[in-house]
Amino acid sequence: MRSHFCGLVDESMIGQTVTLCGWADVARDLGGLCFIDLRDHEGIVQVVAEPSDAAGNAAVVAAAAKVHYEDCLRITGVVRARHSVNDKIRTGKVEVLATEIEVLNKAEPLPFHAHENAGEDIRLKYRYLDLRRPEMQKMMRTRIKLVQALRRYLDGRGFQDIETPILTKATPEGARDFLVPARMHPGEFYALPQSPQLFKQILMVAGFDRYYQIARCFRDEALRADRQLEFTQLDMEFAWVRERDVQDAVEGMIRAIFKEVIDVELDAEFPRLTWAEAMRRYGSDKPDLRNPLELVDVAELVKACEFKVFTDAANDPDGRVAALRIPGGAALSRKQIDEYAAHAAKYGAKGLAYAKLDENGAVNSPVAKFFSEGAFAALLAATGAQKGDIVFFGAGGYNKTSDFMGAVRLKAGKDFGLVAEGWKPLWVTDFPMFVWDDEAQRYVALHHPFTAPAVDDIAELRANAKTAVSRGYDMVLNGNEIGGGSIRIHRSDMQSAVFELLGIGAEEAEGKFGFLLDALRFGAPPHGGIAFGIDRIAALMAGTESIRDVIAFPKTTTAQCLMTGAPSPVPDAQLAEVHVMVRPKAE
Ligand code: AMO
Ligand code: AMP
Repeated sequence: MRSHFCGLVDESMIGQTVTLCGWADVARDLGGLCFIDLRDHEGIVQVVAEPSDAAGNAAVVAAAAKVHYEDCLRITGVVRARHSVNDKIRTGKVEVLATEIEVLNKAEPLPFHAHENAGEDIRLKYRYLDLRRPEMQKMMRTRIKLVQALRRYLDGRGFQDIETPILTKATPEGARDFLVPARMHPGEFYALPQSPQLFKQILMVAGFDRYYQIARCFRDEALRADRQLEFTQLDMEFAWVRERDVQDAVEGMIRAIFKEVIDVELDAEFPRLTWAEAMRRYGSDKPDLRNPLELVDVAELVKACEFKVFTDAANDPDGRVAALRIPGGAALSRKQIDEYAAHAAKYGAKGLAYAKLDENGAVNSPVAKFFSEGAFAALLAATGAQKGDIVFFGAGGYNKTSDFMGAVRLKAGKDFGLVAEGWKPLWVTDFPMFVWDDEAQRYVALHHPFTAPAVDDIAELRANAKTAVSRGYDMVLNGNEIGGGSIRIHRSDMQSAVFELLGIGAEEAEGKFGFLLDALRFGAPPHGGIAFGIDRIAALMAGTESIRDVIAFPKTTTAQCLMTGAPSPVPDAQLAEVHVMVRPKAE
């Protein structure tokens, strides 16, 4: 149908006759002289139809005059040098003098124009039009290149690509499961995998040594810019390994693919932070190290003040009082400070105290009154505050205070333009094994229930569950958790003990994970692995904030596909077939 791609026509082809197919990106009729920018997936080339051309073809000009935006065209013509060179496009030195224009399909007026900044809802409804746009093509191609590079890398290193089931049993990763009714087993359900976690572990027991899969995962959780209901992992598992074996292998891989896909050289060795240090200094388990601001612990300096919020937190072993100094921050207005407090409140803060030091060194702070002058000066000095700065203070439970102060740190970094350019990868290690879930009134696994504790001894783990550290690790890049993994429990007795600590009784454990406990009994080698969020890495590489931009057909934050209309009701007969009755919607 075509001889060349529009975007690849070049000077070497001058004088040649070409046949191109594509969309009319722009069509201009200058009264008898028509220009069409013809676009395909490779780019754009200018087509001219002029009455005085060698062919003298008035029919071509007439056809060109009728072309509209996004019509599908097949154009034959002769490549020639362009009078006025266009540096902005790859084909800018040439144009094609049309000798034949065939309209393959006329386009009706479009709901939005590729060159305008349309809202995301309309873009998602007409996703095919959105994806046609060169910027979307470019972002999607970055993702394609990433996946190709990963496969090539792993295929060349003895990793085996093995598919695992989509219709399966619950695999707990901390989200809600998607359920699929089992027609042949009335009242029973498959769950879609939150990850291939248990299957990949069992593949290690089965002797495959090194596994990977580009795996779709399903999690029914609240959606955000970096979260989708279904997303893609590069899922990996290794047998006969300790932490460093896995970490070194995948660090090398990440470095290689960043070089290959976007020509970025990441650090020769990624820095490592323990979870405790990351929380203490950055208030986050995925710190953005491009942001130079750091939290300072000041509990010791507020213990004797008269502000109960501070003293309560300072005297509570699970509490925290943290300060964040922002150089030049005294310029913040009252309204802007309120915006910081509102931002902190989104992360659970009950308030956000501050102290401003003006250019003369005078202090303006709603909490100064709770301190002697000397004590407040000592507090400010501990934060390193200088004239012209602001210091924010947060107090409360350790994790919550870290969270909201971490959020304040990120906002300040952005607002004050402190975030450096470039790429800051790191490992976060030594996560707590368990976190207390207030709602459920029990421990939950911080990574997942199959993560090995740092201690080998079951009695020791039981005795120190609250402070137990796991063998989990995350890879973080510019404030995004791009991968998470761990060394796994490979002994059945330890796995049972961890289930028990998580409030999963022996009977429940047998029912849900009996197959795993069995497998661990029959010679399971030590093993570990990791999974990377492909969507997140692709988004970072493509330079976009939202993973929706690197997913061809994403869901909205309200968990819908605006193009197909999913989810949608199904006929009663279909429900009956799968033995499902729908409850009326709760008011
Ligand atoms: P984890 O739950 O940390 O680990 O997931 C691994 C990585 O997947 C990405 N990710 C997501 N991306 C988009 N949308 C989501 N809803 C979403 N949830 C997670 C993140 C994350 O780092 N089985 C373990 C891995 C292991 O232990 O080997 C697991 O799934 O980038
Ligand atoms: P109040 O006396 O209650 O108005 O509080 C004095 C200051 O302390 C205000 O600026 C509050 O925003 C701040 N504040 C209240 N609770 C906290 C908290 N948990 N952490 C930090 N600052 C707080």
